[in-house]
Amino acid sequence: MFITNHDVTDALKEVIFFAKQNNIVDLNMIDDIEIKGNEVKVTVIFPKLDDPAVGIIYNSVVKKLKEKFGDEVKVDVKPVSEADKGKGPLAGVKNIIAVISGKGGVGKSTVAANLAVSLHKSGHKVGILDADIMGPSVPIMFGVEGQNPGVMEREGKTVMVPLENYGIKILSLGFFVQPDQALMWRGSMINNAFNQLMSDSEWGNLDFLVIDMPPGTGDIQLTLAQSYNIRGTVLVTTPQKVATADVRRAAMMYRQDKLTIPLLGIVENMAYFTPEDMPEKKYFIFGQGATDELAKELDIPILGRIPIVEKIREAGDGGAPVSLNDETPVTKSFIDVAANVLKQVETLNG
Ligand SMILES: Nc1ncnc2c1ncn2[C@@H]1O[C@H](COP(=O)(O)OP(=O)(O)OP(=O)(O)O)[C@@H](O)[C@H]1O
Ligand SMILES: [Mg+2]
Repeated sequence: MFITNHDVTDALKEVIFFAKQNNIVDLNMIDDIEIKGNEVKVTVIFPKLDDPAVGIIYNSVVKKLKEKFGDEVKVDVKPVSEADKGKGPLAGVKNIIAVISGKGGVGKSTVAANLAVSLHKSGHKVGILDADIMGPSVPIMFGVEGQNPGVMEREGKTVMVPLENYGIKILSLGFFVQPDQALMWRGSMINNAFNQLMSDSEWGNLDFLVIDMPPGTGDIQLTLAQSYNIRGTVLVTTPQKVATADVRRAAMMYRQDKLTIPLLGIVENMAYFTPEDMPEKKYFIFGQGATDELAKELDIPILGRIPIVEKIREAGDGGAPVSLNDETPVTKSFIDVAANVLKQVETLNG
């Protein structure tokens, strides 16, 4: 039999990527088709290679080609990742860092915002994405509340252009929904909106995209873990034992089989209180030791400890993260976190 590229493409159009509800040809996932006699080699591009869909699509490609050309055809499927191919909408983003916690209110958004600013201060190109629909706070912290992102055409598709302030690109689920309507959003709607912020947005070239994740272990966490190539997660906790119990659960989710996303380490927020007039004093009002225990148990480093300081809250509420200020012990604590994140990422990137 004489097999043509056209015949192979036709057969591949019957292979569906269920998560994206379309076939792999129309999804532009076919990188290359090579035909030699009765040998067919197909290179398929996936968002990430540890997605369970890779195996399913692999089998489906073999099945469809054998159905079409008979059992004697030899099929070789080569899965490659978007990152390896330098393709995909997030190809210009080198490192996606997700800031997570088990519990609300521990300071995830504060840490994400100040991490973004500190990474930018050390000369990196940075974006921040607020994925918390119930309490989007990144626009407030960056002083862009009430503004709307721009739009542009990219390959025939309308995509969002992030807002920018303090040199950092910003997008938020809060741009889609009023806070009082958030409760009515179903998981699938939130996921769609999240995917738009990630993929249908013009992030351009970034060294770091910091994602402020909602607390806990819901749909968005799974979508993020399964569909995107995350360099690592930063866990935020406070020193109380109850907080570390929740964060442990969240950490374990990202460590499940097939979702192996590196945990870069823990940030202990509200670690201690230092009165302004007694900078050498540290009061451990929420206790001490639970975070160290957790770090040891998960075998990950503590990336930094952030004190409780009125200025951190004031600056966040005021639309300019405290890390934008000249160096103080507080800004230094966030710079240390950023430096440790950089160190961890460099180790991972080899
Ligand atoms: N180290 C700190 N010192 C003083 N105030 C802080 C500190 N960290 C966070 N806060 C304040 O605590 C409140 C909660 O912080 P933040 O919004 O960052 O938490 P979160 O984990 O993102 O909460 P949510 O789960 O609601 O998204 C905010 O008002 C913030 O300004
Ligand atoms: Mg938050």
